[in-house]
Order: sequence, then structure tokens, then C-alpha cells
Amino acid sequence: MKITIFGAAGEVGSRIVREALSRGHQVAAVVRNTSQFSKVPQGANPYAGDAGNIDDVARLTEGQDLAISAVRPPTGNEALLAPITQSILRGVEKTGVRVLIVGGAASLKIPGKGDTTVLTAPNFLPKEVIDIARACFAQHQICNADKKADWTYISPPAMLSPGTRTGNYRLGSDELVVDKDGISQLSMEDFAVVLLDEAEQVKHRRRRFTAAY
Ligand SMILES: NC(=O)c1ccc[n+]([C@@H]2O[C@H](COP(=O)([O-])OP(=O)(O)OC[C@H]3O[C@@H](n4cnc5c(N)ncnc54)[C@H](OP(=O)(O)O)[C@@H]3O)[C@@H](O)[C@H]2O)c1
Repeated sequence: MKITIFGAAGEVGSRIVREALSRGHQVAAVVRNTSQFSKVPQGANPYAGDAGNIDDVARLTEGQDLAISAVRPPTGNEALLAPITQSILRGVEKTGVRVLIVGGAASLKIPGKGDTTVLTAPNFLPKEVIDIARACFAQHQICNADKKADWTYISPPAMLSPGTRTGNYRLGSDELVVDKDGISQLSMEDFAVVLLDEAEQVKHRRRRFTAAY
């Protein structure tokens, strides 16, 4: 497949680029300016563009089979995630390209706690991630309300960190996936596996899903 990846130099995005390349896909790796081309994993074709600009999204997804967004605004500008997500949805609507959106765990329900979510559960999140969690909650609502673009929203587990690729994971829908000790986690490498599995075999069109060990 020909895949455009926004946020390609980021923690999550660069792992998605590597996983896609390892499966033989052609990757257009989008960063914000040419000075970041050196951060793009080798084998991908680097492009400069702004995911917050509808015309850039359309230009960079035209003729592609799939787009993936792993964009995160800089600290202090978390609220930009909502307009950036709108821009991505409107851009791919123009080109008719399916998009996988890396979101947040914020809107996932806590198992056994009714409608309580990761964001609303008392003392669940450390203070320093509240702003990005709020932004991801809004981002999920934007996708959920969108009837025009061909989107899939992927919520990571509560803990997503650099690690190793095992190829193992379990899927969930709107509830946090936890292990027998109540822990919800996945390596970024395995999260990239989840994304590429969904890319290659569509299971969650216009739906959110999540995954964890
Ligand atoms: N448990 C969780 O819920 C959890 C945990 C981790 C990550 N995440 C989510 O995963 C996503 C990626 O996170 P990450 O840790 O990989 O972030 P990251 O390392 O900061 O990477 C994000 C990338 O997005 C790029 N970017 C920002 N604004 C952009 C724009 N307008 N157009 C194009 N690119 C733009 C950044 O480029 P610059 O360097 O130019 O700013 C950066 O390379 C985020 O949505 C984050 O919320 C969720």
C-alpha cells in the first residue's frame, strides 16, 4: 500500500513508519519542515507539511491508499489537536483516502465503573497529562461525530511506552483493555503492529477501538 504518515518523526509515528516499511509498504513520511527530514526512518520518502492545513493534507494524501495521523501538538498547545483533527478529516474527505487516527486513552471507560472514563476517573491520570487527555477526549468526539471522512480512531492503552515488538495484543472497543493485574499497557512497537494490522485488514470502519496486552 501507499501510506502517508503525519507525525512521522514522533515517538509513535516513527515506529509506525518502521512497521509499515518492514511490511513492504511505500511510506510518505510527513514532518513539519525539511530540517526534520533527517529524523525520518530510512526507506521512507520524506515530505514537509502541516496536518493543520486542509490543503496540505489533501496534497499529501492524493493518490495514496491510506493516511495515518500520529500528530501531537507541542506541550502548552494541546488544544490545537481538535482543529488539526478537523483539518485531517476534511483533507482526506477531499481525496477519498481512508485515515487511521492515533488518539488517546482519555475517552475509554474504566472496566466495571459504568460511564467513568480514563479522563473522568478521580486520580487516575497524573496532572501532567491532563491537558493532552482533554484534547484527546475532544478529538475522539470530533471523529465520532464525523459522517463524511473514512476514519478509524485508535485509542492506545493507558500506558504506551517505547519497548520491544512482540506482535501480541488483545483488542477492545470503548473500554480500557487491562491484564489480570488491572494494568493497561502496550509497547509503542506493538501499537504500530495494531495500526498496520488494521491498515491491512479493515475491521473498524468509522469506529474507535483499542488494544493492550
Ligand atoms: N496513553 C495514551 O493515551 C497515549 C500515550 C502516548 C501517546 N498518545 C498519543 O499518540 C499521539 C502521538 O504521540 P507521540 O508521543 O508520538 O508524540 P510526539 O513524539 O510529540 O510526536 C508528535 C509529532 O507530531 C508532529 N506534529 C505536531 N503538530 C503537527 C502538525 N500540525 N502537522 C504535522 N505534524 C505535527 C510533531 O512535530 P514537531 O516536532 O514539528 O512538533 C511530532 O513529530 C498523540 O496523539 C498522543 O496523544 C497517547
